[in-house]
Amino acid sequence: MSTTQKAFYLTTPIYYVNDAPHIGHAYTTVAGDVLTRWHRQRGESVWFLTGTDEHGQKVMRTAHDNGVAPQEWVDRLVANAWKPNWAALNIANDDFIRTTEVRHTERVQKFLQGLKDDGFIYSGKYQGPYCVGCEEFKLPGDLIDADGEKLCPIHSKPVELVDEENWFFKLSAFVEPLLEHYRNNPEACQPESARNEVVSFLEGGVSDLSISRSTFDWGIPVPWDTKQVVYVWFDALLNYATAVGLTDDPDSPGGKKFAATWPADVHLVGKDILRFHAVIWPAMLMAAGLAVPKKVFAHGWLLVGGEKMSKSKLTGIAPSDITDHFGVDAFRYYFLRAIPFGSDGSFSWEDMHARYTSELANDFGNLASRLSAMVEKYCAGVLPAVARDADLESALSTATAKADSAICELDFQGGINAVMDFCKRVNGYVTEKEPWILAKDPKNQQQLEDVLYNTAESLRALAVLLNSVMPATCEILWQSLGAQDVLGDLNSQKIGNVATWGQLPVGAKITKTAVLFPRLELAE
Ligand code: ME8
Ligand code: MG
Repeated sequence: MSTTQKAFYLTTPIYYVNDAPHIGHAYTTVAGDVLTRWHRQRGESVWFLTGTDEHGQKVMRTAHDNGVAPQEWVDRLVANAWKPNWAALNIANDDFIRTTEVRHTERVQKFLQGLKDDGFIYSGKYQGPYCVGCEEFKLPGDLIDADGEKLCPIHSKPVELVDEENWFFKLSAFVEPLLEHYRNNPEACQPESARNEVVSFLEGGVSDLSISRSTFDWGIPVPWDTKQVVYVWFDALLNYATAVGLTDDPDSPGGKKFAATWPADVHLVGKDILRFHAVIWPAMLMAAGLAVPKKVFAHGWLLVGGEKMSKSKLTGIAPSDITDHFGVDAFRYYFLRAIPFGSDGSFSWEDMHARYTSELANDFGNLASRLSAMVEKYCAGVLPAVARDADLESALSTATAKADSAICELDFQGGINAVMDFCKRVNGYVTEKEPWILAKDPKNQQQLEDVLYNTAESLRALAVLLNSVMPATCEILWQSLGAQDVLGDLNSQKIGNVATWGQLPVGAKITKTAVLFPRLELAE
């Protein structure tokens, strides 16, 4: 592996395996997949990590409630639910880390020992409220009061009181460096609302953090005090670095991988876990003298009845409930298209049905089938001539530039809209040129061929531009345009080159395929 080019390194949260994934987890993971596929098509070297968070009381108790040992429980869920879900959603992650793997636990211990040796860890007493759903030490101001009982606002469940001798991390020492970091690097925490929240949290002052627990044993032993296990968040956050070789010798394969990936370019998270990622994690890295992530992006929540969809509350919708009806690519498209990334949103069958029909079946799918049907009917399935339409060409250039800058800034909605606006434009072009009328008179042969070519060339570009969002559908389209033989694999098509007009050659074989987005009844 060459160490010269640093990879674009993107992570998702590692999810708790207290239950199977719901569409909230799929939302983050699909967004990460779309962004990394896009960066690969920009020609960058990319590393995309996801995984599972397997220690702590929440997972331990769920295993217990189900009558199995924690390790057996997590093995089962990872194998039967998490990995198959990501495969079904066509997630192209490069690695999958589990916090029970030795490659993780050993490096966590080594990292922690390093912090202890450098004086950032001390022993103390922790007393205070804890939410097992969040696995978080809460501040009194975080809680809501329900008839005298203190509830976690996210899980609506009573917090528990922790009273233990623990090991503490000197988090408070990093308040100033963190504030300075976010002042100097506004892009390091996005969207702006998230950064404001983090800054005002830091400005309010931060206490040191208890980073070990002594009352249960489902965790990584603290290396110098094995009666304690590492606090699950301290363990979990490190996954982003252990997975790429943290603490390994620089000349070892792990050390080289670390040099080629770290710091992470984007940690994609939901806003529920923003503080962990934008406060605790960079402080841990600063303490170790390591570079902090370039960007933490906190997206909004998928809501059910106005509240965050949640495994703990059993309000999760399984991705398959939606993909069984609409298909995987429509699922991947819908959430990124419908909800501004950073805002909350809710899923509705009606809205998804409406967008599926108008944007995917009518605007996109129909354009592809119209073209292949016409080329078959009027030109025996072979692209007859190369042509150029200056308006379409410039609309494509504009759409590509807009999509590229929007997606690189994680404005998925803006990026998809730019491409779908171009798709609409091409539909308008076909409607206006009326090739079916032109075909009635041989005098118009040249014009007819021009319209067919310009439409095919636009679809060639749409396949490339929508490939990161809907890879399976775009592959079908790519094959139907006969592009594979002349231009190579769809995944190897570069964003930087997509707007160059005239790539499909004369003689390209256009074949009819199955309808890309079949018409669907609105599910009841
Ligand atoms: O917090 N809407 O894991 P978790 C949108 N293990 N996104 C949602 C969502 C919703 N309703 N529900 C979940 C943990 N998510 C820790 C993370 S990382 C070092 C450790 C997504 O299983 C979103 O990305 O509770 C959220 O931040 C994450 O799943 C929480 O998953
Ligand atoms: Mg959670």
